[in-house]
Amino acid sequence: MEIKVVENVKTVETDILVVNLFEGEKTSIDLANEYAVQEDNFKGKFGETYLLHTYGKEPYRKVLVLGLGKKEELCPNKLREAVVKAVKKCAQMEAKKIGFLLDGIEFDYSEQLAIGANIADYRFDKYKSEKKDNKIQELYVQANSDNIQKGEKFAAAMTFARNLANEPAQFATPEELASIALDLGLDTKIYDADECEKMGMGAFLAVARGSKKPPKFIHMKYTCPNPKKRIAIIGKGLCFDSGGLDLKPASSMLTMRDDMSGAAAILGVMSIIKEFNPQIEVNGIIAACENMPGCDAYKPGDILTAKNGKTIEVDNTDAEGRLTLADALCYACELGVDEVIDLATLTGACVVALGSNASGIMGNDEELIQRLIETGKRNGEKMWELPMWDEYFDSLKSEIADMKNTGSRWGGASAAGKFLEKFVKDVKWAHIDIAGTAFLEKPQKEFIAGATGAGVRTLLSYIIEQ
Ligand code: BES
Ligand code: MN
Ligand code: ZN
Repeated sequence: MEIKVVENVKTVETDILVVNLFEGEKTSIDLANEYAVQEDNFKGKFGETYLLHTYGKEPYRKVLVLGLGKKEELCPNKLREAVVKAVKKCAQMEAKKIGFLLDGIEFDYSEQLAIGANIADYRFDKYKSEKKDNKIQELYVQANSDNIQKGEKFAAAMTFARNLANEPAQFATPEELASIALDLGLDTKIYDADECEKMGMGAFLAVARGSKKPPKFIHMKYTCPNPKKRIAIIGKGLCFDSGGLDLKPASSMLTMRDDMSGAAAILGVMSIIKEFNPQIEVNGIIAACENMPGCDAYKPGDILTAKNGKTIEVDNTDAEGRLTLADALCYACELGVDEVIDLATLTGACVVALGSNASGIMGNDEELIQRLIETGKRNGEKMWELPMWDEYFDSLKSEIADMKNTGSRWGGASAAGKFLEKFVKDVKWAHIDIAGTAFLEKPQKEFIAGATGAGVRTLLSYIIEQ
């Protein structure tokens, strides 16, 4: 879909002109006021719509009145949700050209219009031999073009991440992620298994051993002259998580191509970062591999040595994400950055705790955590802080190694956080568990089922606001 900023959307020939109506107010389209508001008593409750025909009297063939609820309650997030509804409705009616009249809405909200329009437009149909032809081609709007462009860039990064996470594991392999990273035109280094071995990444490599597909450790770097700050963003990159020898049951394995959603989000962010020209250094890091039960698979009871020398007794091969992240965190800390943020589909326990509407967040720096929560809130990504009390490490204590990779089922999201903490040194760190938010089994709010691009908006926004 192409978004075009125009002076006066009412003069553009479109199939449908969408105009918003606040409860108890009027629109700037007389027809809408006359028929929808006065005659049919359309109230403009949030998310409700009313359609009327203009019978060739106006450049726009129809008007879709979009209820936005009470004016004082509108916020950018609500506008985006309403836009998604309206655009989906227009697409259902097979409109090709639509207009948007944002009446009495602040210009900077139009960033969310661009994001919403793209979310509404998103589908993953590349493997359908017959594609539905109900895509909107052009959207005209009176808005600030800088805001629209910013929204479009955010949307592009989300779409990038969603496509990658939706892609079947047979195609989205570690090698494929590495080649995508190399194509982004950043300063990128890919480490193969033998180089990872030399770096001492015994935890990451153990996870990778059960698969025929070779692991890839990816490091992308964006920088600028005299960066104000240096950060690292890490994404869990399990291209497929079968559970390993502790094999998952079929129903739990079904969506495990999404176990690289963290990596997909990092790639999405890195794919657009140059266009924002942020004044900080950003290192995008992914330890990409598959967790498979092949003949050389790592086994329960094995003892692994991570990059920082700490030893780990394998209690369950399905707690593999934290093993790959352990080495990635060590690597990031050795870069001497100021902050590290990791994004991971890490625990089913986080999904049990928070469901699919909010990600879990924890870490060692309350200011960083609060800033990320606040940034997420403004960008339509909810996050909830989970505790990191020392007791959560108790069940990870091992008789024969420095720690085990799992312990009690209870409080599993926090225990995973405590595990990761052992590989973080002298740096501000936040860990975001996106196991529930990254991939939807059924449609939810603005999103169709499948990948959501969780974390992309928060990270991008955080980076460009430095
Ligand atoms: N990738 C899974 C976590 C997950 C679960 C992501 C559901 C998305 C949806 C992770 O590797 C895993 O298997 N975690 C185990 C840990 C357990 C063995 C301690 C889990 O949560 O069951
Ligand atoms: Mn697992
Ligand atoms: Zn996993």
